[in-house]
Amino acid sequence: MRFPTISAIAIASVFLFDTVLSATPAEWRGRSIYQVFTDRFAPTDSTTKPSCPSGYGGYCGGTWQGIISKLDYIQGMGFTAIWISPVVEQVADPSRGYHGYSAQDLYSVNTNFGSADDLKALAAALKSRGMYPGLLESCADISTYLMVDVVANHMASDDAAESIDYTIINPFNDKKYFHDICWVTDYNNQTNVELCWLGNDQYPLPDLNTTRTDVRSMFSSWVEYLVSTYSIDGLRVDTVKHVEGPFWSIFNSASGVYNVGEVADGNVPYVCPYQNYMDGVLAYPTYYQATEFFSDTSATSLNFVNEVKAMNSQCKDTTLLGSFSENHDQPRFAYYTSDLVLARNILVFTMLQDGIPIVYQGQEQHFSGAGDPYDREALWTSNYDTSAPLYELTKQMNAIRSLAIAKSSDYLTWHTQIVYSDAHNVAFRKGTSSYMILMVVNNLGEQAENYSVTMPSVGFPAGLTVVDVLSCNNVTVDANGGLAAAFVGGLPMVYYPYFLLPGTGWCGY
Ligand SMILES: *[C@@H]1O[C@H](CO)[C@@H](O)[C@H](O)[C@H]1NC(C)=O
Ligand SMILES: *[C@@H]1O[C@H](CO)[C@@H](O)[C@H](O)[C@H]1NC(C)=O
Ligand SMILES: *[C@@H]1O[C@H](CO)[C@@H](O)[C@H](O)[C@H]1NC(C)=O
Ligand SMILES: *[C@@H]1O[C@H](CO)[C@@H](O)[C@H](O)[C@H]1NC(C)=O
Repeated sequence: MRFPTISAIAIASVFLFDTVLSATPAEWRGRSIYQVFTDRFAPTDSTTKPSCPSGYGGYCGGTWQGIISKLDYIQGMGFTAIWISPVVEQVADPSRGYHGYSAQDLYSVNTNFGSADDLKALAAALKSRGMYPGLLESCADISTYLMVDVVANHMASDDAAESIDYTIINPFNDKKYFHDICWVTDYNNQTNVELCWLGNDQYPLPDLNTTRTDVRSMFSSWVEYLVSTYSIDGLRVDTVKHVEGPFWSIFNSASGVYNVGEVADGNVPYVCPYQNYMDGVLAYPTYYQATEFFSDTSATSLNFVNEVKAMNSQCKDTTLLGSFSENHDQPRFAYYTSDLVLARNILVFTMLQDGIPIVYQGQEQHFSGAGDPYDREALWTSNYDTSAPLYELTKQMNAIRSLAIAKSSDYLTWHTQIVYSDAHNVAFRKGTSSYMILMVVNNLGEQAENYSVTMPSVGFPAGLTVVDVLSCNNVTVDANGGLAAAFVGGLPMVYYPYFLLPGTGWCGY
């Protein structure tokens, strides 16, 4: 197989990104995000490999300086943004602090990850060095976006629920800011989900009364401070469904940057309305259906196809959603199946469906951890192998997406259409006719036979020569706009017009 490479000339036009301080949703749309779980990404001294047993619940030693030292690894895949773990000071208990979702002081940083200056140095390093798809060696004027994970639903305490010392919680240093104690027990009862506490009596996450005017304005002040102090370009927002929607409008607007929220639920009519309160949400419903489809060769495509269509019709703007297939809360894809061909298919789908693609550290290394905490493997165990097959595929998908964005002004805002599906194959069109990408994925896996599927009318103009940029096979679109896709060994296909390829380096053109 020839691995396509991308030339400097072809890529130069991709990088007309604005480099203003606060990045808007429109500026985020063309980005792609690498999710860094800070404690498990890289230690400050990259010659060491701290011990970090599977499922370990404590600090393993990843730092912000460690991230700086490994930016080449991320840059090599073509990402244009990173999302890092929450940065604020945590409770003392390391088993609750290493992930960052147990804050005690919003105005101090988690010194296990470094100093405030280290975090500023990370922001500066991202801004001063361009990250770009493909293999271009230098491109100084592109900044890489920094997205930080934030929590506004709750704070945390080392004390038992009934005996919390509120005075050490900053800035919410009084019981009055919090809801009375009750536990989230019933996810079908939205009042219970919003007013009650996560955690338990021994490990409580005191739940803020976010309807209070003072709590809202304290959060607005804090998020403005955080974004400006650390030059943050976007926020990943935790536990969104545990707070009433109107709070998020205020928070999102105070932050002045793109917000993407975690509404961890598979129900489209439940998840989509949160996009009325914030710029984007993580595409959890699609995630669940994609995982079921791609991880099981006997599954049929119906639920997956219907979910993509439902998201498209019910979410305010799917092009601002976060598209993902792994994160630090869910079992890895390779936990369900070790089949690398299936992993390729779901990765291609994740990178090219509507929305801002997000790849979680370790996905590119085909890590296979089960659910939290086993999905938080130390990345250094991989030796940051840049020849890993999914590392290469991620690089290719960032590159073809960036090429499509550069060649067509409405590529990003064009809503994905499913133009063909049968039991095991699904074809997606994104973009106007002569400039679109046709993505064809399947769930047949490594054992798949070779076969051909003729898809009537996929969207390309009749007679156009298109190239599957992954296999470099040429196909001519027939007189009816149809295309005969030759499946080889279950691999995904990404068709792009031939006339847009000369000079790019793809497939030797
Ligand atoms: C929903 O939860 C609230 C808060 O826990 C509780 O007061 C209420 O009784 C619950 N409603 C139902 C129908 O269970
Ligand atoms: C939250 O604060 C509001 C405004 O002060 C108050 O009216 C309400 O009772 C509080 N809610 C709860 C559940 O404590
Ligand atoms: C499928 O096609 C590929 C490429 O033409 C070929 O290398 C492979 O042997 C074929 N596999 C089978 C099972 O026929
Ligand atoms: C693909 O099509 C183009 C345009 O017709 C042609 O120049 C090129 O040689 C073809 N490549 C292959 C591998 O068939």
